[in-house]
Amino acid sequence: MDEIIVTGGRPLAGSVRASGSKNGALPLLAASLLIDGTTVIDNLPDIHDVATMINMLRALGAKCDFIGPTKLRIDASNITSVAAPYELVRMMRASFYVAGPLLARFGECEVPLPGGCVIGSRPVDFHIQGFKALGADVTEKHGVVRATASRLRGTRIFMDPRLRSVGATVNIMLASVLAEGTTIIENASREPEVFACQDFLVRCGARIEGIGSATVVIEGVDKLHEADVRAIGDRMETGTFLYAAAVAGGDITVEDCRPDHMEIILDVLRRAGAGVTTGEDWIRLRAVGRPLPVDVMTAPYPGFPTDLQPTHGVLGAVARGTTIIEETIFDARFNYTDELARMGAHIRIVDSAAIIKGQPKLYAAPVEATDIRAGAALVIAGLAAEGQTEISGATFLDRGYDNIEAKLAALGAEITRRSDAQSRKPLCLA
Ligand code: UD1
Repeated sequence: MDEIIVTGGRPLAGSVRASGSKNGALPLLAASLLIDGTTVIDNLPDIHDVATMINMLRALGAKCDFIGPTKLRIDASNITSVAAPYELVRMMRASFYVAGPLLARFGECEVPLPGGCVIGSRPVDFHIQGFKALGADVTEKHGVVRATASRLRGTRIFMDPRLRSVGATVNIMLASVLAEGTTIIENASREPEVFACQDFLVRCGARIEGIGSATVVIEGVDKLHEADVRAIGDRMETGTFLYAAAVAGGDITVEDCRPDHMEIILDVLRRAGAGVTTGEDWIRLRAVGRPLPVDVMTAPYPGFPTDLQPTHGVLGAVARGTTIIEETIFDARFNYTDELARMGAHIRIVDSAAIIKGQPKLYAAPVEATDIRAGAALVIAGLAAEGQTEISGATFLDRGYDNIEAKLAALGAEITRRSDAQSRKPLCLA
């Protein structure tokens, strides 16, 4: 297993570019299956989850070729299979996104259940209920979901307003753009990545109203046409860099990002005492001493994102006072706190809340990343800690972060990777 080695105590300085969004790119890649022709996606991040989705498209018969360092051309005119291989679905839950487009375009799909996940239970029942509501016949046998429909029929679908599932909104939307009649998704996810996917579908000829709102109205069309698209900047990666500077100290600028997608995060960082200024596509953060404690509760967009909850936990761990974090989305998302405690953090978990008593210092310790965002949090903790922190499970970071150690090193961090035989290898980006 790869390890990331971080020597703490160096403030960060300079500029870093945000890569394309992981959660934005994955729906776009899946959406390409809807098109009997070519899609070109630019600004793809060089991460394992994108590679997994590209491998999935290839396994289904799509032709995928890089025509630039981050630019992929997908030709989905000759899809040869509607069955998603388990080896790929088990690597990444978002592989389930292929179900909607396959069902819509070919009238059938077979996708294994993605199963459990280290950050909590993550069923796909909302996706399946949506397909059923659209008229599909759905069965589950031997862990495989099989859905069929001669043509899906539009209907009104109510999502759980508290959770506003991102994945179910995407999958139902991808299924309903080719359905007969009108589909109304109530309590749809309003995450910017969902909005970006809706926008792309419209450019391909889909008829969607209420883009970016909680009520999305989709008038089915017979077919979509070819289009090009650029993935939006990754707000979780951007947030991770900003938190790194807020915790380790320094003055950094993240470029090619979307400040308008990050309002609550910037507000929290300002309340923690950081100086935050923004332009159209950049954010500058100047840390001013030890952060102040800020309580947060995770919620669907525009609320505080669960994906930055662990990084906020690190800020709390060094803040001048007590921070309370309430996690409302994933039931096991405090897994990282035990590792953080090994570095001197004082954290108590009570039901779905973490009570964090800020300490003047964290200390290096061997720790283990168990998921993408926990890994990022431990890297940030390492940047602030005294001594050399060894973080195992670095491959989790590679699922969602594009060259994180090179980017942090360019900002002045002392960070390296210890690899086994295989160094960090992008799976299929050119
Ligand atoms: C997406 C993001 C992930 C982020 C999460 C919440 C992608 C690829 N991943 O994951 O980074 O942390 O949103 O913002 O975009 N749920 C059900 N049944 C379902 C679907 C979801 O009960 O069928 C529950 C989940 O267990 C969770 C909540 O709904 O408690 C929200 O999950 P959802 O928004 O669907 O997350 P993902 O799309 O998996």
